[in-house]
Amino acid sequence: MPERSFDGLHVAMIMDGNGRWAQARGWPRLAGHRAGAETVRRMVEAAPGLGIGTLTLYAFSADNWKRPQDEVAGLFRLFARYMRQEADKLRRQGVKFEVIGRRDRLPGPLVSLIEETEAATSAGSRLRLRVAVDYSSREAILRAAASGARDRASFHAALGPDVDLLIRTSGEQRLSDFLLWECAYAEFSFLDVAWPDLTESGVRAALDDFRARDRRFGAVHPARVQALR
Ligand code: IPE
Ligand code: IPE
Ligand code: MG
Repeated sequence: MPERSFDGLHVAMIMDGNGRWAQARGWPRLAGHRAGAETVRRMVEAAPGLGIGTLTLYAFSADNWKRPQDEVAGLFRLFARYMRQEADKLRRQGVKFEVIGRRDRLPGPLVSLIEETEAATSAGSRLRLRVAVDYSSREAILRAAASGARDRASFHAALGPDVDLLIRTSGEQRLSDFLLWECAYAEFSFLDVAWPDLTESGVRAALDDFRARDRRFGAVHPARVQALR
């Protein structure tokens, strides 16, 4: 089935800083993840009004399995709760929910819930919400190659749309194995706020800054073309 197109920008967000946000308050890291889930709700609600057509959120990386077991279990519990609580609202809001990443290492009931939520929201056409869980971009690229992708178009089809703007919270300035291929010409916005403190106006400011940038994709801006002699 051809990929439906969603009007608007593709914004990707690395949701970082939950743990430090909680620890700075003397709270367990999981309290930061809980607050982070509220930010996800805020972002999903705000996205269409901000001109975002596709929102890709980094929720759990393939390397995050290295974390303590109870933190991993807590993250999965929060993710399950998010889907249970939000599925109806997502459907009503025209959000098409998708999960990218490996599923074979996730708990069975979580995979079932993912499948149900994807099915319940499959008709959404206002916002495409992609949540990356047990995700590694290098692995995604290798899987695309193994399944026969040989040229740009087939990698694009296997991986997903190019990113316009990538936002990472918490002051870190790295990709941590997120959307490596898709970010070939992405703009980057590294914000000093922790994910739980990210607001709609913070994203609006990042988007205003993004829209003022000159994306040349390797070319010379037409206004700056001048004779070489
Ligand atoms: C992001 O916050 C959430 C996940 C990676 C699951 P962190 O848990 O990485 O928070 P910090 O970076 O330790 O503060
Ligand atoms: C990246 O954040 C993964 C997610 C936000 C889900 P990390 O906190 O795991 O990344 P590093 O370890 O700082 O690179
Ligand atoms: Mg982190």
